[in-house]
Amino acid sequence: MTDVTVAVVGPGAIGATFAAVARRAGVRELTLCGRTPVERITVRADRGEPVVLEDGVRTEPGGVRGPVDWVLLAVKAHQTPGAGEWLRALTGPDTVVAVLQNGVEHHERVAPFVDGAAVLPAVVWCPAEPLDRETVRLRGEPALTVPDRPEGRALADLLRPGGARVDPAPDFRTALWRKLTMNAVAGLQVLTGRRAGMYRRPDMRRLTVELARECIAVATAEGANLAPSVAEDIAAELAAMPPDLGSSILFDRAAGRVLEWDARNGVVQRFGARHGVPTPVSDVLVPLLAAASDDPN
Ligand SMILES: NC(=O)c1ccc[n+]([C@@H]2O[C@H](COP(=O)([O-])OP(=O)(O)OC[C@H]3O[C@@H](n4cnc5c(N)ncnc54)[C@H](OP(=O)(O)O)[C@@H]3O)[C@@H](O)[C@H]2O)c1
Repeated sequence: MTDVTVAVVGPGAIGATFAAVARRAGVRELTLCGRTPVERITVRADRGEPVVLEDGVRTEPGGVRGPVDWVLLAVKAHQTPGAGEWLRALTGPDTVVAVLQNGVEHHERVAPFVDGAAVLPAVVWCPAEPLDRETVRLRGEPALTVPDRPEGRALADLLRPGGARVDPAPDFRTALWRKLTMNAVAGLQVLTGRRAGMYRRPDMRRLTVELARECIAVATAEGANLAPSVAEDIAAELAAMPPDLGSSILFDRAAGRVLEWDARNGVVQRFGARHGVPTPVSDVLVPLLAAASDDPN
């Protein structure tokens, strides 16, 4: 048993995955904080035993006891303001909020809700698919990259005993933008409605490389250290993925939910404009994603 209190805000695919890790790591208190009541969640890994989280999802921030030592925030980026009441209830000056989200703007997004608590951005690498509200399929090892600073190393100490890989990275900015590039490309899956098998098509591979190149140009302007050839590496990695592998933005599209388009694709266009870097593929993709997500008609 580790004498640590942990709250997971957003117990969906990634939140439940890391709640299961925290449970296996033997944290003293684990609280699941959501907006839909669920009695138990099972995380079913393709390799290894399933973990059943029996405690149930709490839905009333007013009834929770804070502050906790760690908040693992795993709502979608655009859902962060909606989770603000949870964050205010659970954080104090000694809390660390690990932000398990895609995108590159973790700190700006979360800091307004945590009143001085430390915000630790994390890159999430493990594909996890919500099969239904009570079941998550985890298709790889739970894995995070975090900044190599005291809070990042403390998160590694907390979660490694539960079976997660947590890598503190000295050049975290580069890791963040490499993942963002992969996420931006996954926006193409929303338009095709296809899983990763589509990246094996030569035409999709060319489009992937074009989009990845513009993301890398923006990333470079932001100070990341990504060679242009990383675009071809990413296209090859995506083509080598299991053809039935999905993406959280594709799952949201299939379910008719609001998409995380601004944090994953809009950001390339916004930061490109800031630096004078052309983003022609994003200029087409972003309005299509936004309309698919947000248009009420
Ligand atoms: N899934 C993956 O494979 C994967 C991999 C890498 C990174 N990521 C990133 O990880 C983050 C989380 O993604 P996900 O796939 O885990 O999303 P998800 O399955 O949709 O889970 C989001 C969870 O947050 C809850 N939620 C929404 N609004 C809330 C609020 N106001 N208060 C409390 N809980 C709230 C949702 O509840 P409801 O059930 O009521 O909607 C759901 O339980 C995203 O940034 C995503 O891009 C995902």
